[in-house]
Amino acid sequence: YALRRRPGRPDGTNSDWTTSFWPGQLWLAAQVTGDAAYRAEALAHVASYTERLDREVDLETHDLGFLFSLSCVNAARLAGSAEGRLAALRAADHLMVRFLPVAGIIQAWGRLDDPELRGRTIVDSLMNTPLLYWATETTGDPRYAEAATVHAGHVRDQIVREDGTTFHTFYWDAETGVPLRGATAQGSGDDTCWARGQAWAIYGFALVHRHTDDATMLDASRRCADRFLEMLPEDMVPAWDLALGTDPTLLRDTSAAAITASGLLELADALERTGDRLDAAARYRAAAVAMLESLAAHYALVPGSQPAPLLREAVYDLPRGVGVDEGNLWGDYYYLEALARLHAPDLVSAW
Ligand code: GLY
Repeated sequence: YALRRRPGRPDGTNSDWTTSFWPGQLWLAAQVTGDAAYRAEALAHVASYTERLDREVDLETHDLGFLFSLSCVNAARLAGSAEGRLAALRAADHLMVRFLPVAGIIQAWGRLDDPELRGRTIVDSLMNTPLLYWATETTGDPRYAEAATVHAGHVRDQIVREDGTTFHTFYWDAETGVPLRGATAQGSGDDTCWARGQAWAIYGFALVHRHTDDATMLDASRRCADRFLEMLPEDMVPAWDLALGTDPTLLRDTSAAAITASGLLELADALERTGDRLDAAARYRAAAVAMLESLAAHYALVPGSQPAPLLREAVYDLPRGVGVDEGNLWGDYYYLEALARLHAPDLVSAW
């Protein structure tokens, strides 16, 4: 991996949104193998998240869900860690501060009084709602889950377009609650369909359905999944922006395929739970398996090669030229998660 250096932060600082995908992989390995060494190594990461909260490093973000679900909720659920539970609850409280009550959305980035960022949310945020559902489950306080559900409803209504594609981000007027406009940050244009955003939508709406049983969330996940599957090239690994088409020479985002594979398994589970549309469940499950087979056959690095992500050929942020055509931690995490789901159907979910 290219090591990302942040000005003023020494290498190894727990900052930005991706650090938890490593303890997340360790928890998956611990569950699949039962090996205590993975569990001990995963648990050791909790202290760094407590320290991040204590030192207030990069907390002004919706990404607290990715960060604290994989590291600390996992530690609480799988090892009864009291420190993990406390850190995850503190993170959920930070996320709640970002809920703008009039608009009913969780602001994605930055200070709440920043006029450029106020009232803007992002499709990825759906993946951060499970931290709030967990906080309600563990405390009995309904406020966390209520905020998550109101937020997800607004994302469903504004970020998903009529044709099942998605905006990457969307602005609301935080004072009046009026929805304003869609805009991209990492896609090729405001009206295109950034592939990883679509992947977050498929998985995120299915997760909100898991926690709420709201059929409109399942429907939103299905509409996004159907559109995604229609827009794929033959090998089922999307171009970094779906609107660019299916020319096999386009840069791919393998991480979008990995997230989608796990999301399609979640969607299939949900349809099987509700007992209707078993034909659709089988179709989504088959698509997930085909996507994983294609990743394994064409995009997985040869074991032992250096540097060693599991998957190559992802795109983080093409407009800024960051992380283009390289492996990354979240692609590896969701690839492992999807494979672990197939291997161990009773896997305890971090979400
Ligand atoms: N910030 C989340 C992503 O790039 O997908």
